[in-house]
Amino acid sequence: MKVQKAAIIGGGVIGGGWAARFLLNGWDVDIFDPDPEAGRKIDDVLANARRALPGLYNRALPNEGRLRFATSMEEAVKNALWIQESVPERLDVKHRVLEILSAEKANNAILASSTSGFKPSQLNEKGANCIVAHPFNPVYLLPLIELVGDPQICADAADILHEIGMYPLRVRKEIDAHIADRFLEAVWREALWLVKDGVATTEEIDEAIRLGFGLRWAQMGLFETYRVAGGEAGMKHFMAQFGPALKWPWTKLMDVPDFDDTLVNLISGQSDTQSGHMSIRELERLRDDNLVGILRALKHRGSAAGAVIAAHEAGLDWPEGDGLPVTGDRTVPQSWTDYNGHMNETHYLEVGSQATDRFMEMVGADTAYIASGKSFFTAENHVRYLAEVHAGDRLRITTQVLAGGGKKMQLFQFIHRGDGELAATMETLLLHVNLETRRTEVPGPVVAEPLAKWVEAHAGLDWPEGAGRVGTR
Ligand SMILES: NC(=O)c1ccc[n+]([C@@H]2O[C@H](COP(=O)([O-])OP(=O)(O)OC[C@H]3O[C@@H](n4cnc5c(N)ncnc54)[C@H](O)[C@@H]3O)[C@@H](O)[C@H]2O)c1
Repeated sequence: MKVQKAAIIGGGVIGGGWAARFLLNGWDVDIFDPDPEAGRKIDDVLANARRALPGLYNRALPNEGRLRFATSMEEAVKNALWIQESVPERLDVKHRVLEILSAEKANNAILASSTSGFKPSQLNEKGANCIVAHPFNPVYLLPLIELVGDPQICADAADILHEIGMYPLRVRKEIDAHIADRFLEAVWREALWLVKDGVATTEEIDEAIRLGFGLRWAQMGLFETYRVAGGEAGMKHFMAQFGPALKWPWTKLMDVPDFDDTLVNLISGQSDTQSGHMSIRELERLRDDNLVGILRALKHRGSAAGAVIAAHEAGLDWPEGDGLPVTGDRTVPQSWTDYNGHMNETHYLEVGSQATDRFMEMVGADTAYIASGKSFFTAENHVRYLAEVHAGDRLRITTQVLAGGGKKMQLFQFIHRGDGELAATMETLLLHVNLETRRTEVPGPVVAEPLAKWVEAHAGLDWPEGAGRVGTR
């Protein structure tokens, strides 16, 4: 794959997140930020991203690109295919920066702004030619990008965003603050009133969100959630029941509380009491670990952001093996470690069974074959735990076929750590099954023939140490 380059202009919270997203998806990145502290801040964001993003996938991401700090915007944009402006949210600063970037960029390069509030027509009023690509923090984990502006540039941008695992949402009309931040502003305004009026503390408001509707929103959004809330009668019933309440009204609508010292001190004081026992970096890591756990659960169901991750994963390249076939290549997520500080035993089995799934695909027992009513069921596994594995370790799994005649398929999975150490082996005995009768039967030639070729190819290999512990009953 040809390595492509992105230029990140402004390396704060959002620019750092963009840099990590591109780098960990194999792109080279040049950053320009005049702040002397920018390097340290980017390193911190990157460390968090390396810890979290690979854990979303059951496959390895491409090799990381190279990161460079440019001394000028001109240097950063040279040969860049994607240029992301993430400087502070001030229109005059954005105008100055976007003017230079528009003049310096290659013709086919996409110039995008991270702005939370400005419209493309405002950003381009001094002659720049950019679109809005509005991300969400942390940019390396959350897939949503709101795309606003020229339709052709947005279409080209969408292709690249898919490539780096993101979900481009085309905003049909340009408006202040796009789609998501309009909601968030309404929610933020209401929250400020609730604290100011002494109705709730910052912590109580957070509990009201994270213990209830926040969980629903992450997987079904607003309308699907309300459809379900309408019961069997669905959305119409829901609207009839709750529609009139909008006129009472429950909310403060457009009133904004004065942002005076009293309100700022009240809110920041409550926030310190609520969360001051943890540093911002610790809070970020907690947020990231939780997000990875939630996103992995959504991926399992193919829901919401999980569907985006699943589609990205399906497009990742399998590495070539120079000996046994590679049936797994992945990073160990934080959530797989246990109280002993290493990967819990369950996940060795998970890794091994995913390698079995991959080998089944290689012999033609893929999703379509299973949908046609045939599959393999596992009859026995034997796992040997040989070396510790930690969160963030890369694991590479290779498969040797020990037997494959009749209804049986006997596999031996070698689970190697990234440093080459053999961390575990898993021997597995599978039986070919008819999914209608739920009884074993001999596979047809579509599977039997490729399997026989693998059996033949592996027939001359040494019998692996530790093999032969299944199928003896
Ligand atoms: N923070 C968020 O949650 C969030 C979410 C989505 C979008 N955004 C948008 O992203 C943009 C950046 O926000 P942020 O939160 O990362 O701000 P930030 O203050 O963390 O980072 C801005 C960075 O830009 C650098 N900078 C200032 N002038 C510059 C220049 N002339 N050239 C290059 N770099 C320059 C600063 O040194 C700083 O590192 C804003 O437009 C904001 O609206 C922010």
